Amino acid sequence: MIELPDVKTNESHDAGKDTKKQPAHEKPHQLTHIKHILAVMSGKGGVGKSSVTALLASTLSRKGYHVGVLDADITGPSIPRMFGIKERPTGIEDGILPPETPGLGIRVMSMNLLLPKEDEAVIWRGPLIGGAIKQFWKDVVWGDLDFLLVDLPPGTSDAPLTVMQSLPLDGLIIVSSPQDLAVMIVRKAIRMAAIMNVPIIGLVENMAYVNCPKCGEKIFAFGEPQGEKVAAETGVPLLATLPVDPYLSRLADRGKIEGYRADELEHLPHLLEQRLQHKVS
Ligand SMILES: Nc1ncnc2c1ncn2[C@@H]1O[C@H](COP(=O)(O)OP(=O)(O)OP(=O)(O)O)[C@@H](O)[C@H]1O
Ligand SMILES: [Mg+2]
Ligand SMILES: [Zn+2]
Repeated sequence: MIELPDVKTNESHDAGKDTKKQPAHEKPHQLTHIKHILAVMSGKGGVGKSSVTALLASTLSRKGYHVGVLDADITGPSIPRMFGIKERPTGIEDGILPPETPGLGIRVMSMNLLLPKEDEAVIWRGPLIGGAIKQFWKDVVWGDLDFLLVDLPPGTSDAPLTVMQSLPLDGLIIVSSPQDLAVMIVRKAIRMAAIMNVPIIGLVENMAYVNCPKCGEKIFAFGEPQGEKVAAETGVPLLATLPVDPYLSRLADRGKIEGYRADELEHLPHLLEQRLQHKVS
């Protein structure tokens, strides 16, 4: 069990990245150099935010990028569980070394990795969570990363906003399911992104359809996908539309999500590079 160092408040700097960014952010560990930090958000829980974060991290990693995942959603143990992480973070003199995923070596930090029992996550309260997330940024030795993906708490209210304020984000990705995807959700995200002065990279519509196992036809079990319509109405690009795939949830349940290849996400590393090109650490 690692003793987390005290959280220092009011000690803010820009993170040695883009000084235009408001508000002031804490400096990362001196051994941390991250090119792009992206946060993944959703209008509500259960839409597949963590799955999409894990799949995107895996896709990036397979393309040769160095990737980390900061699990800022402490309400569920999904990120470490999906990746099947057994290792714990290691405390070193002036920081915390994150464990790596068994398959691709993605560095992961999550509150669940610090708790003796996974279910204890629920007792954490707002200020404690905020402090912990800040430490995941400041005290974790992320090393040299091309991408750090942040799995935000669900919703478009205070919780994700607080997290976003602790980190110098380069972009936001919204994950939605057809039932939850509405212009209103995306508009809320746009407002939040504007407050944070962070661009929205785009939208991933998850669980949009089922491929019939017999004929391959798309079955729209939850109604027509909304992605294209919402994208057209809000101007937020639709990045990908993912089907419901029982094989994905099976792999995730077994801690083997890295073994899943989502063809629908294959173009994203290239797209992200292009969108974020001007940001160099
Ligand atoms: N495209 C998909 N096909 C099949 N199952 C999926 C898909 N996306 C997610 N799931 C499953 O749905 C459940 C919820 O997914 P996940 O944990 O990623 O959602 P979340 O939005 O992060 O939820 P939470 O709000 O609890 O953090 C999981 O059991 C996951 O395996
Ligand atoms: Mg989740
Ligand atoms: Zn069929």
